[in-house]
Amino acid sequence: MNKTYISDAGRFEGQDVTVNGWLYNKRSSGKLWFLLVRDGTGLIQAVVSKADVPEESFAACERATQESSLSVSGRIAPDKRAPGGYELQVKSVVLHQTALDYPITPKEHGTPFLMDNRHLWLRSSRQTAILRIRHEIIRAIRDFFDSNGFTLVDAPVFTPAACEGTTTLFETQYFDEKAFLTQSGQLYMEAAAMALGKVYCFGPTFRAEKSKTRRHLTEFWMVEPEVAYADLDDDMALAENFLSAVVGRVLETRKEELKTLERDTAPLEKITPPFPRISYDEAAKMLKEKGVAFEYGTDLGGTDETVISEAFEKPVMVHRYPAEVKAFYMKNDPSDPSKALCVDVLAPEGIGEVIGGGQREDDLETLLAKIKKHGLPEQAFDWYLDLRKYGSVPHSGFGLGIERTVGWICGLPHVRETIPFPRMLNRLKP
Ligand code: 4AD
Ligand code: MG
Repeated sequence: MNKTYISDAGRFEGQDVTVNGWLYNKRSSGKLWFLLVRDGTGLIQAVVSKADVPEESFAACERATQESSLSVSGRIAPDKRAPGGYELQVKSVVLHQTALDYPITPKEHGTPFLMDNRHLWLRSSRQTAILRIRHEIIRAIRDFFDSNGFTLVDAPVFTPAACEGTTTLFETQYFDEKAFLTQSGQLYMEAAAMALGKVYCFGPTFRAEKSKTRRHLTEFWMVEPEVAYADLDDDMALAENFLSAVVGRVLETRKEELKTLERDTAPLEKITPPFPRISYDEAAKMLKEKGVAFEYGTDLGGTDETVISEAFEKPVMVHRYPAEVKAFYMKNDPSDPSKALCVDVLAPEGIGEVIGGGQREDDLETLLAKIKKHGLPEQAFDWYLDLRKYGSVPHSGFGLGIERTVGWICGLPHVRETIPFPRMLNRLKP
């Protein structure tokens, strides 16, 4: 008998097939069992009539519990009311393993309980919808860069020094020396951009974030493009085209999943270039006008970002933060050296920062002075300084956090559901 995935059932209308899956739910009415079976590609209702199946098949239906693994064989018949539009008129049922006391039941569970059972929680229709959208986002990201002349360059995970500040470094022993888990592949992308022009990396990055917030993970995935001969304006144009392409793709190909998540897609339909651009000074003024207690000269906090992003329908690009609060590698604005040529893209609906980036310092002496000022170990950056000695050019790039993007597009309040197995301050398991 032909095997089929539930999503392909329509191709076998009127034919006999086997579906391999797990029991999602069941109900009976006397001589009938209605099994709702899932296989990862969809749900199908399998109708088992006592008169039509061997005795052991009917007994298997009685024994089958939620999440028991089973194979159901029978004829695919159209049914307008059924999920997916087809039902299976069953001829035999084979129960592979009976799941006893599956911990996640249709009743409401608290988040800590669900997080402890993340390995099982992934099977729920909400979580599979999120995982599929995450996959689509990653595919759209790669497609965007691949079709725009970028070369994928993988960055190392073990690194000799900090890139994004020394307070969030994960230290590890590397034979006789200390190493750190990478906070960002950026510095390596700068080297690669001088070799290939337009590059990007995509991989896990690590931050020892000691605070519990809805937007911070200790391990998250970041995509980081870097472009030679690009300034801050080029960087912002790249960011808005890129983000619009990603959102557009999900809207186009993941309607079903967005529906499962009950995501209102109207705000996402508005994500098209150009995005509004405001300076840090304008952002500070906005916060003051809205009565937010914000100290000029400091970085924008989570709440500040929420307030600003709620004022726009599209992602807003906040540029030129005070150089003091930003990373050592940022180039200062020649027309106001107290500001950095940087940009944070704040997603709408109160989400806040999803992209951080900007133009890099390309002058050797200035960069060296900044490394010293930030108290960073000079010898760990000698290779990075070489890039300013041998054919230095203006260049820019940014990093987009995958989980915050997934959270925004899926309409999730917290990043913990945006990654299969989240790592947070108090969570290393499962
Ligand atoms: O703003 P960040 O720290 O920028 C960088 O790492 C640059 N080196 C990137 C570059 O220019 N190549 O991080 C970039 C993005 C943030 O906007 C956010 O989306 C995400 O990474 N991010 C986090 N996501 C989840 N948990 C965390 N702890 C995150 N920290 C940053
Ligand atoms: Mg940032």
